[in-house]
Amino acid sequence: MIQVVEKNGYYEVEFTDLTHDAMGVCKVGDFPIFVKDALKGEKALIKVIKLNKNFGFGRLIELLLESPFRKIPICEHYQECGGCNTMHMNYQTQLDFKKYRTAETLRKLGRIETKVHDTVGMSNPYYYRNKAIIPFSERNGKIIGGLYRARSHEIVNIKRCHIFPKVVSDMVRFFRALFTELKLEMYDETTHQGLVRGVMFRHSRDQARFSVTLITTSGRFPERDEIVKRLIERYPMVVSVIQNVNPDQTNVMLGAKSKVLYGKDVIEDSLLGIDYEVSHRSFYQVNPEQTELLYKKAMKYAALKPTDVVVDAYCGIGTIGLTAASKVAEVIGIEEIKDAIKNAQQNAKNNNLKNVRFILGKVEDVLPQLKEKPNVLFIDPPRKGVDKKVLESIIKEKIPRVVYISCNVSTLARDLNFLQANNYKIVEVTPFDMFPQTAHIETVTLIERIKE
Ligand SMILES: C[S@@+](CC[C@H](N)C(=O)[O-])C[C@H]1O[C@@H](n2cnc3c(N)ncnc32)[C@H](O)[C@@H]1O
Repeated sequence: MIQVVEKNGYYEVEFTDLTHDAMGVCKVGDFPIFVKDALKGEKALIKVIKLNKNFGFGRLIELLLESPFRKIPICEHYQECGGCNTMHMNYQTQLDFKKYRTAETLRKLGRIETKVHDTVGMSNPYYYRNKAIIPFSERNGKIIGGLYRARSHEIVNIKRCHIFPKVVSDMVRFFRALFTELKLEMYDETTHQGLVRGVMFRHSRDQARFSVTLITTSGRFPERDEIVKRLIERYPMVVSVIQNVNPDQTNVMLGAKSKVLYGKDVIEDSLLGIDYEVSHRSFYQVNPEQTELLYKKAMKYAALKPTDVVVDAYCGIGTIGLTAASKVAEVIGIEEIKDAIKNAQQNAKNNNLKNVRFILGKVEDVLPQLKEKPNVLFIDPPRKGVDKKVLESIIKEKIPRVVYISCNVSTLARDLNFLQANNYKIVEVTPFDMFPQTAHIETVTLIERIKE
């Protein structure tokens, strides 16, 4: 039976799968429709709101059969905010979904059949994020600040977010009130007018130290001294205040120039007994509890020996290499952000780890030129995955053991497929729930060269 799908039409459907971003998948006739907040096994009345050539989007109008795995979201903004998208699943279902998506994506996109372990979850999967970037703007004469709606740049003026610590929600309210009192002009993305674009918060795991970055469109910011004074009066745990200037017409929040307004441009934190300095521009994992578990698994997969020469590619502030350093002969870290390399070098010094060196540059340029022959390689690339030149270099140098940490299973599948076709075995994969209440998946994979 062929049923014609109409925009704005109402249909009774059954959900048979979930997309990578946790939307329910149903069919009207043969035509796939994706619906937010629907779970596999549920039946519902939906309204079709958008039609593309091969698929469409619908809105849940009424649940006709509810899944036993459904949970009432604890967040009052969940329906409108794009920050979270799995809060309507109970936590075990979120973990099962991530394991299933990992295995499915590796199989379908990478043609990889390997052992995928259960997702490693959190005992309390809320209030875990140590970094928040909050855009501010103005609506109907009122200053608003919060997170964006899904697939939009419309700000949801949050009262409280349940993935940041409660004090960060409090700081957002503080800034809304202070910016209003000081009559500051908020940035308008459509006209590109206004001064304040947003505020970035980062804190140490024990919440004893916070860094706050005020993101403005111009370096001229006469109110900054008053803001710093009021901020540290109210929140004495703020140890670092930065002004970042971003005059560009772009979606990216941080601009190229920054200035320290108070304290130093670092906050201190520690992971697995090693102390780190993190500057506001450096990458640092957002969920420390899960990061420790992830790094422990990565070290186990690496099976480090005292004679090993280890490369930590995409090293950020050096966390993986420094965790490995005491167990091996030598560690070389590679990273393209200058501030992160400076942090990494300082971190090695502060922890008295002398067998480590860090190289500033792109992994695709540095790795093929390395004099040392690594026998263990950690790769932890950004979402776009690993450059083909890096994979070619692994194959050419016959690196025996690779531990791949990934925040995007699609690019992981692509990269593993290439290695698998070139004499490497994908031994096993463990997903970690680094970003509870969202569909994002972090994985660590053990890859071994097959002996000729
Ligand atoms: C996912 S982060 C991992 C950082 C670190 N391993 C950790 O666990 O905190 C990826 C890092 O790779 C860096 N990066 C991105 N592309 C790069 C490239 N082509 N060459 C070197 N570093 C790169 C980013 O600046 C970022 O610090």
